[in-house]
Amino acid sequence: MIFAMNALGIVPEIYHDGWIDFNKNGVKDVYEDPTQPVEKRVEDLLAQMKIDEKIGQLHQSTRDIGAEKIYKDQIERGDMGSFLSGGEVIESPKQRNALQRMAVEGTRLGIPLIFGHDSIHGFRTIFPIPLAQACAWEPELFERTQRISARETAAGGNDWTFAPMVDLGRDPRWGRIAEGFGEDPWLGCLYAAANVRGFQGTNVDAPDRVVACMKHYVGYGAAEGGRDYNTTEISEYTLRNFYLPQFKAGLDAGAWTFMSSFNCLSGFPASADRHTLNDILRDEWKFRGFVVSDYDAVVQLIDHGVAANEDEAARLAITAGVDMEMVSSNYESLPQQIQDGKVSQAVVDEAVRRILRVKFVKGLFDHPYADETLYQGAYLKPDALALAREAAAKSCVLLKNENNALPISKSVKKIALIGPLGDAPGEMLGCWSSRGRPQDAVSLAAGIRPKLAPGARLTVFAGCNLTNSTAQISRAVADAKAADVVILALGEPRDWSGESKSRTRLDVPGRQLELFQAVIATGKPVIVVLFNGRPLAIPEIGINATAILEAWHPGVQGGNGVADILFGDANPSGRLTISFPYDVGQVPLYYNHYNTGRPGIGEYKGNYVDAPITPLYPFGYGLAYTTFQYGKVQLSADSMKLGGTLTARVQIKNTGARPGTEVAQLYLRDVAASAGPRPVRELKGFQKVQLNPGEARDVTFTISNRELGYFDSAGHWLVEPGKFQVWISKDSASGKPVDFELTSNQ
Ligand code: NOJ
Repeated sequence: MIFAMNALGIVPEIYHDGWIDFNKNGVKDVYEDPTQPVEKRVEDLLAQMKIDEKIGQLHQSTRDIGAEKIYKDQIERGDMGSFLSGGEVIESPKQRNALQRMAVEGTRLGIPLIFGHDSIHGFRTIFPIPLAQACAWEPELFERTQRISARETAAGGNDWTFAPMVDLGRDPRWGRIAEGFGEDPWLGCLYAAANVRGFQGTNVDAPDRVVACMKHYVGYGAAEGGRDYNTTEISEYTLRNFYLPQFKAGLDAGAWTFMSSFNCLSGFPASADRHTLNDILRDEWKFRGFVVSDYDAVVQLIDHGVAANEDEAARLAITAGVDMEMVSSNYESLPQQIQDGKVSQAVVDEAVRRILRVKFVKGLFDHPYADETLYQGAYLKPDALALAREAAAKSCVLLKNENNALPISKSVKKIALIGPLGDAPGEMLGCWSSRGRPQDAVSLAAGIRPKLAPGARLTVFAGCNLTNSTAQISRAVADAKAADVVILALGEPRDWSGESKSRTRLDVPGRQLELFQAVIATGKPVIVVLFNGRPLAIPEIGINATAILEAWHPGVQGGNGVADILFGDANPSGRLTISFPYDVGQVPLYYNHYNTGRPGIGEYKGNYVDAPITPLYPFGYGLAYTTFQYGKVQLSADSMKLGGTLTARVQIKNTGARPGTEVAQLYLRDVAASAGPRPVRELKGFQKVQLNPGEARDVTFTISNRELGYFDSAGHWLVEPGKFQVWISKDSASGKPVDFELTSNQ
């Protein structure tokens, strides 16, 4: 089915019923025939392409270039295969179609452009930042939010999104930790796959789906000092077990593109690293889609110090397996380099083949234009807003709740809402907020108002900013004194996380701690709501606040979702997927570390003299409005044969007075492994269980080779006989392990 029609409503001669004569030769070529298999179409087109047309396919241009005229010249010269539609220029499918028409009608072979856009956690309906959604421990939630994100992104005239970002995050100083899922690769794999399913669905060429992009390949999140773009040193063993699995999971879920990362990885820039791009991604994993470089990452090979000039940068990147160059245009030199025998024609052909394959799979040769009518009314639909609210509530993690201060009783008469993030709708959106608009967003104040009982009063003093003056603090104190309960909305502005937003400190910035201290001194119950894009080191708040709700940057419906939790209309069920340190000096700090040769605490044990070695709040941690008691873990047997199964069971009881949701977490440890140490604990399963007061339920996990194995440095999957430990616990720091023996079959 062809949807094409030009702006004037005239169907030029190339548009036929059921096919488009892209090369304008009056004949239906194989590549123009939607009934032909993709591979045949790719080869037919490739065979018709001249070298300059091939090189054009390898280039992605961006809006920054400027005027429409330049795009027209570029497109018609065949210099462009893709468009990075970041923002202002391509604002609607209409503009996309205008550019697409230049490519389809104005070039010899009519190859459609593919339009990419950064929809990281929504397009216009902005959902909680990915790190927040990860805390919901619900892959299906991601699938649903990204499904809506895909729908809106596509309605805005895009075919492709640069998401999910699956970089493992262990260092909260790194601003992009907000875009990922946290510190656990096993959970990261589930989320990677869920994101891809959400974006691409089962039929990526559907008009409401977009091509996913696994980024940033690879190791980008391990930037030294938490400084964005910085060097990373990751052993092959750690790379295989912690950094690569999420990429593989996305690929297995069907992701059609990858993005090569900015960082230097263990001695060579990742955007020219043959080992990861070629040996692993193509040879081992059989990836058939294409790799796009990150923004200017090809020309940056010169700054990295591995290429002397643009030609060399192009040569290194294309031969390593970077098929499309984002923004910089070093690949223009490739025709000459082929002539000079420096780059093989086959390498370029293969890159073009991969890009064309994705364009065919996305259906761009069958329906190159976007439906211009979908655009109006496509955004912020009721189902999208309801989901945004649900996601905001599910992303919240209750960190502390002394005296059951939460949920706020409906009988409370006077509430003071204080703090820089208390009435800041735009800040709710978080980093990478695409086309999200502050005026669409619900602040915490706006979310709280409808919750107030008749006769109750809310004073809002959110005018204070990060650098509160003493006078402002006095005003806050006066409000607090006059209230029964204080809600203190603290955290980070949204532009303190995301790309190039690293920090050296992990406190609540500015004078927020002083504000906290002044309000605490009133003696009133103080409920701290945190809005931030990374784990914070907040020991003083942890000790002195009455309650703490980690709300992250919760998206367009943030105020409503958070208020649902504060007033008990939704139950807190989030659990941290990243550790909260006491002090920035502890990072990187993550639960699934290897043991040292001197574990434990004590002299010559590797502890700090001035801080604990444990986190303030560990991975997996989060409270409910009730309490849960775990029984002893029961195993179906105390040994298991290789290839067999074993079940681990525990009884969980709701021992409090309210219904609640517990996230029961299965952790394993391989006590002695031949290829390298295994982490002290590794998440291998979880179940969300809803229990009424007094209710008890057995939770059962099945353990098999899948949970017990690991990769050696060569990428072989090993499952080794020996002793294993099992925990089923409420977080990564609690519970008692039970042992079993894995035995060989002989
Ligand atoms: C640079 C970022 O690192 C990447 O994640 C993003 O997709 C591109 N810019 C395009 O905006």
